[in-house]
Order: sequence, then structure tokens, then C-alpha cells
Amino acid sequence: MTSGIDVRHYDHHHAAELRPLLLDVYAEVYAQVASTDPFAGVDRFAQGLDGWSRRPGWTCTVGYDQGQAVGYAYGAPLPEGASWWRGLLTEVPDDVVAETGVRTYALSELMVRTPWRKTGVARQLHDVLLAARTEERATLLVDQEHPKVHALYESWGWRTLGDLRPRIPDAPLFHAMLLDLPQS
Ligand SMILES: CC(C)(COP(=O)(O)OP(=O)(O)OC[C@H]1O[C@@H](n2cnc3c(N)ncnc32)[C@H](O)[C@@H]1OP(=O)(O)O)[C@@H](O)C(=O)NCCC(=O)NCCS
Repeated sequence: MTSGIDVRHYDHHHAAELRPLLLDVYAEVYAQVASTDPFAGVDRFAQGLDGWSRRPGWTCTVGYDQGQAVGYAYGAPLPEGASWWRGLLTEVPDDVVAETGVRTYALSELMVRTPWRKTGVARQLHDVLLAARTEERATLLVDQEHPKVHALYESWGWRTLGDLRPRIPDAPLFHAMLLDLPQS
């Protein structure tokens, strides 16, 4: 049931205004994980958010239920020679990870507050975010310890490219996934 959810689309001009809301939702969604996992702390997430939202190509969708934020998704196009692929552990042909700056949109975050899970809101945030893209494909990373999330993305059409561990301290092992985007 997704009626009543208003999904709004933003770009990097709105990043400063959205920042407190995005951090509040993150703190709620990841509270339990962050209590034991240093990789999931709000301060660390805020640094990542600031890095992503400074990019001119950053876009974000936020879902509102009667004015209350219930979840969001954001990402940005990968730049030429993107560091995104540097932690890829699976061997793939060079052209698969060759970035031009306009080839691939990276979905960096998708999260929904618990009461609005299993309602279709997550899919709606994802679809609205990607519908506006002009790139040929999208990529995301999903923690290999979260097989149900991996399966969820597969059910939305994503395919697994291989294993990836970002070259940053404490980074978990991820599945790197790709989704072909419709070309108009
Ligand atoms: C991922 C998310 C947006 C999907 O929302 P949704 O489409 O409504 O789907 P669900 O919440 O039912 O999640 C699907 C399954 O994955 C599981 N799951 C979701 N997030 C998970 C997580 N972070 N770790 C482990 N399992 C997770 C759910 O428990 C559910 O399993 P179930 O069917 O046995 O109940 C939402 O679950 C969420 O916000 N999760 C926390 C943030 C997150 O992990 N984001 C994805 C980063 S790649």
C-alpha cells in the first residue's frame, strides 16, 4: 500500500537543507547496527553523505507520509576512472568497469523507517530516483551478510557483478550489482 506517500525528487542544491532530515532517518534506521558496528556510526555516515552530496550530479528521493519523512534513496553518477571499482575482487573485462562520467549512476543509499517497510515505499523511492537518470546502467553495493536485501534487489532486476571490498578501514565485503536503465 503506497497511496498517500509523496515522493519528492531533489538535487545537490537541496543537500544542505535536507542534511538534518537524512541524518535523523539514518540514525533511527541504523541505531541497532551502530551500537555494535563502528562502520555504521552517524558521524561516519555524515562524512559519506557530505562527500556524495557535494557532487553536482547528486540526486535524492525522499518519501513523506503526511509530511513526515519515511525513507530516502540517493546517489550520483560515477566519475571517469571512479574509485568505486577499485575494491572489486572478481576479475571482469576492463570495459565492464570503464567509467566515462556519464555511463553509470551509483545508488549509494536506500533506507526506509520500519513502520513503512513492506509497503512498496522502498521500491517507489528506488524507481523514482532511477527513472530520472540518463545513464545506461546503475550500480549498488550490498553487504554479503544481508542475503535478503541482495535477493530483494535481484527481484527488482539487479544482477550481481562480483565481490567488492572498498579500500577503506573496516569495510565489509559487498556484492557489486548492476541494473540496466532504459534508454529513451
Ligand atoms: C532495504 C529496505 C529499504 C527494503 O525495504 P522493503 O522493500 O520494504 O523490504 P523489507 O524491509 O521487507 O526487506 C526485505 C528483507 O530484507 C531484510 N533486511 C532489510 N534490511 C536488512 C539489513 N540491513 N540487514 C539484514 N536484513 C535486512 C528484511 O528483514 C526483509 O526480510 P524478511 O522478508 O525476512 O522480513 C529496508 O529494509 C531498509 O531500510 N533496511 C535498512 C537499510 C538497508 O539495509 N538498506 C540497504 C542498503 S544496500
